[in-house]
Amino acid sequence: MTVTDEQLINAHKAIGVIDSGVGGLTVVSEISRRLPHESIIYFGDTARMPYGPRPNEEVRRFVFEIIDFLKHQEIKLIVIACNSATAAGLSYYQRLCEQPVVGVIEPGVRAALQHSHNRRIGVIGTAGTIGSGEYEKALQKNDGSLHIASKACPLFVLLVENNLVDTPEAQKVAEEYLEPLVGEGVDTLILGCTHYPLMTGLIQGVMGSSVQLINSAEEIVTEVDDILINSGLKNPLNSNSSRYRFFVSGDPRPFEEVGFKLLQREIKAYQVRL
Ligand code: DGL
Repeated sequence: MTVTDEQLINAHKAIGVIDSGVGGLTVVSEISRRLPHESIIYFGDTARMPYGPRPNEEVRRFVFEIIDFLKHQEIKLIVIACNSATAAGLSYYQRLCEQPVVGVIEPGVRAALQHSHNRRIGVIGTAGTIGSGEYEKALQKNDGSLHIASKACPLFVLLVENNLVDTPEAQKVAEEYLEPLVGEGVDTLILGCTHYPLMTGLIQGVMGSSVQLINSAEEIVTEVDDILINSGLKNPLNSNSSRYRFFVSGDPRPFEEVGFKLLQREIKAYQVRL
């Protein structure tokens, strides 16, 4: 493929990553592992999280505001690293942006379909994501004979954001949410919220080791890579040139703490009022 000057200029721009809080850092971690040459501009809307219980229109409005902020930065692609925001209106964001915009639902669905042998798939997510029925629609579109068991787990996001995952209370909450899914005999469980990979140990412990957990953060990076390659937007430079910038709407400190734990490096987040 011949690369144009414009593609070369755009290839050096960053990937924009959006989430309501720290959950999208699971996507950042995956991008840094698999696409180390790429720069990232991250926005965590921590002052207005959780998005899960909010009406779709409100979530869309918040995401539009963040996209507007990112448009003033040098970005080449936007990852909606939040299932609730993806479910609330991925196609709206795609219409609004000249850059490609990718969401987390489709990649997770594709991976679950590949992994499930008994065709019984579980989906967990926020109230907004599960209530939207977007995972069921996407799964059923591919295979109408699937048995799908969905469960909203609204407290999980708060456990992660407040660093409470390793507590006995978290164990009790996880058992309450997940035991019905164990009873449904699912062999694959989609973590339909980007915060949930931050509590994989707890979820796997309740579900049992034979259940395959699908991390939508991992799956989306494969899609991002494909888009960058196919549109000539992959950064050709060496990894030393990649730069990460983090913005949050709330207090930067708790965000920086989770970021340090997850990314194994100090991160500096800047507060922005939208
Ligand atoms: N990380 C977000 C998701 O994937 C949700 C968290 C929230 O409720 O704000 O859905």
